[in-house]
Amino acid sequence: MEKFLVKGPSKIKGEIKISGSKNSSLPILCASILFDKRVEIKNLPKVRDIETLLEILSKSLGFAVRRNKQKNSVIIFKTKKINTFCSYKLVSTMRASINLLGPLISKYKKATLSLPGGCLIGARPVNYHLSALKKLGMKYKIKKGYIHAHVEKNLVGTTIKFPKISVGATANTIIAACFAKGKTILKNCAIEPEIKYDLTNFLNKAGAKIKWIGKRTVRIYGVKSLKSISYSVMGDRIECGTFCVAATISNGNLKIKGLNPNIINTELNYLKKTGAKIKKSKNEIHIKGPKKVKCIKFLQTKEYDGFPTDLQAQFMALLCKANGQSIISENIFENRFMHVAELRRLGAKILIRGNKAIIEGNTNFEGAELMSSDLRASVALVIAASVANGKSIINRIYHLDRGYERIEKKLKKVGVNIKRIS
Ligand code: EPZ
Repeated sequence: MEKFLVKGPSKIKGEIKISGSKNSSLPILCASILFDKRVEIKNLPKVRDIETLLEILSKSLGFAVRRNKQKNSVIIFKTKKINTFCSYKLVSTMRASINLLGPLISKYKKATLSLPGGCLIGARPVNYHLSALKKLGMKYKIKKGYIHAHVEKNLVGTTIKFPKISVGATANTIIAACFAKGKTILKNCAIEPEIKYDLTNFLNKAGAKIKWIGKRTVRIYGVKSLKSISYSVMGDRIECGTFCVAATISNGNLKIKGLNPNIINTELNYLKKTGAKIKKSKNEIHIKGPKKVKCIKFLQTKEYDGFPTDLQAQFMALLCKANGQSIISENIFENRFMHVAELRRLGAKILIRGNKAIIEGNTNFEGAELMSSDLRASVALVIAASVANGKSIINRIYHLDRGYERIEKKLKKVGVNIKRIS
């Protein structure tokens, strides 16, 4: 098992380029199932979840997948033997595979897909996906942990209001509705930029008819087919936010290229509250960390454009260094405080009360051996270790490799003493 050896404290200085967005690439790669002709997707991040999904598309579903690793791009095209079965073995390693259901039943009228298991941050049910696709005409039954779904003739457009905002269910249903007969209106949608801009732009460029007619309402007119296109995925806003936190916690000075700063205004405003100085230009952020981090009385995670749950762990590491008490409320997932026990091993003083974490602040981290849990908790440990006094070992970094492209290379380039050891 690989681990990171981190020697702190270090100050982040220099310039990095953000990789393509994992959470945009995944639904877009799932949507490639709709195409009859080749589709090229560029700026894919080299992360394990993308590798897993490309393996599912090729080995499990039978698509031809041609990689150009240098250019981080892939060309996908259908073959004569498309399969519609996706095994537990593959789905359990990448929950977002549930987003294969919408395109498979919309294009191929059937799918046998393993239910994704839960994960460390929560039960992660898929009831909103299933109920929305059922309203479009999907029939399904669940047997021995598999969803056996099919469509008689065609999906038919209708109006659907999601009971709760769900990124995955919104993406799955938009993709499925592209080939549904007539008009589909989806209400109470997730509006993360990966969905509202990137997935929508990708599909419309290929001839889909998707239009956002309200803040959380989208209208889709069904079409017969999509044309061959080439599309470049947007930058990863969570990776960008992660590096902004790393610069802030270390009194650093960092230039970050590859993302439109306006899509992370909420996070940048909170970083300013902690004392960071931020300059934004078209596709670049220049951030300087304060000598002493200021506390934030109350911070809560919300659906976009609120503060993202995917940055909660990283912010908690930052607030451990703040000049007073901060409170973070996690409102999206029921168990997303796995990093707290590990931050305490570095010396943090954090109390958990239900879905709230009370962070005492004024902590000087002392290096320790740590255990990664979920993807974002793991990177929070790397950030904390980078400013800790002395040596830290971070175990099970395969969690990190799921969503960050060789993060140690980027961190080393900007001054962090980190190396990958087996
Ligand atoms: C996406 O997960 C992201 N993953 C997550 O990022 C992110 O944390 C999450 O959205 C929230 O922003 C990808 O985009 C691949 P949801 P998703 O459906 O779609 C409940 C990362 O670190 N729910 O918006 O699974 C669910 O349990 C990952 O990159 C149901 O109850 O999130 C959660 O409490 C982690 N039933 C809440 O809704 C459903 O059918 C939000 O989930 C679906 C969701």
